[in-house]
Amino acid sequence: MSETDIIMQVEHIVKKFAAAGGKTLTACDDITFNIRKGETVAIVGESGCGKTTLLKSIMNMQMPTSGRILFHGRDITKLTGEAKRENYRHIQMVFQDPAAAFDPKMRIKEIVCEPLLNFGLIQRNGMEAKTRELLAQVELPAEFANRYPHNMSGGQRQRVAIARALALEPEIIACDEATSALDVSVQDTIVKLLVRLQKEKGITYIFICHDLALVSMFSHRIVVMYLGNMMEELDGDKLTEARHPYTRALLKAVFSTDQEKNQQIGILPGDIPSPLDLPTGCPFHNRCEYRQELCIKEKPVLREAVDNHFLACHYPLPIA
Ligand SMILES: Nc1ncnc2c1ncn2[C@@H]1O[C@H](COP(=O)(O)OP(=O)(O)OP(=O)(O)O)[C@@H](O)[C@H]1O
Ligand SMILES: [Mg+2]
Repeated sequence: MSETDIIMQVEHIVKKFAAAGGKTLTACDDITFNIRKGETVAIVGESGCGKTTLLKSIMNMQMPTSGRILFHGRDITKLTGEAKRENYRHIQMVFQDPAAAFDPKMRIKEIVCEPLLNFGLIQRNGMEAKTRELLAQVELPAEFANRYPHNMSGGQRQRVAIARALALEPEIIACDEATSALDVSVQDTIVKLLVRLQKEKGITYIFICHDLALVSMFSHRIVVMYLGNMMEELDGDKLTEARHPYTRALLKAVFSTDQEKNQQIGILPGDIPSPLDLPTGCPFHNRCEYRQELCIKEKPVLREAVDNHFLACHYPLPIA
């Protein structure tokens, strides 16, 4: 893949929120990475590390405090009115809980075709046929068109959410914990579906997930976040070459033996500092078994360690 395949550039995104007591919470602190056409970029990290906040900037749902998001070279954070609406055609989203996102009074055909109707791309009498076509793409039977979302399983509802996201033929689909609420076996079938659709249509995914083992199976790039900061960014198939102690701790937690299995990366040893009271130096230093004086004093800057492998660590671990 060459530089010309880059369709989105996330550049120095900072998002701060005012908090009680005159404090400021920095949910995203200088997040920078590129997204290439037809690839899956996974954003992983423990709860509260800023994944959804970052996605809201990418989805144009929330203005970042500073930084730019270039989509085909154009900064989309500044879009308003019709230009902002038009941008939504190209970047669609799948949420964790479609049951909450869908109107329970709407039939599947109305849910799936709503974006097309909003953009005036189909007539109401074309809904039935379009729904059948979209349901086929997500491997659901055509008769689901007239069902209501509560008459479906969680996995089927998530397929409907994907069908709805596909309706506008977007370039990018962003999934925020889209498989996290599903059983492992269902999760697997949804991932397989997403991968097939990517191969067929060249769709680009931004896949937010706290499950590093899952994303390592199909992501081309992995961005690891911690307390609003990027810790490491590397190719999905080079995860075993991760050099940041945080990424390695996540890997250890996920791929540990049955005896000490910690499926959730949220149970690493040590407490996550309050985002309102971040330590000086590296945000991970209080949990890092390799910390040295410098880590406590000085915050490491994200830099390219080797080709296309970025790290924010003063003392990266040797490749395992
Ligand atoms: N609108 C807001 N106002 C104030 N603080 C916010 C707001 N939105 C998010 N935050 C804070 O920003 C930080 C990052 O939150 P965010 O929801 O982006 O995390 P996340 O990585 O998506 O977590 P999870 O895995 O639990 O979904 C958290 O400390 C959160 O409390
Ligand atoms: Mg979130």
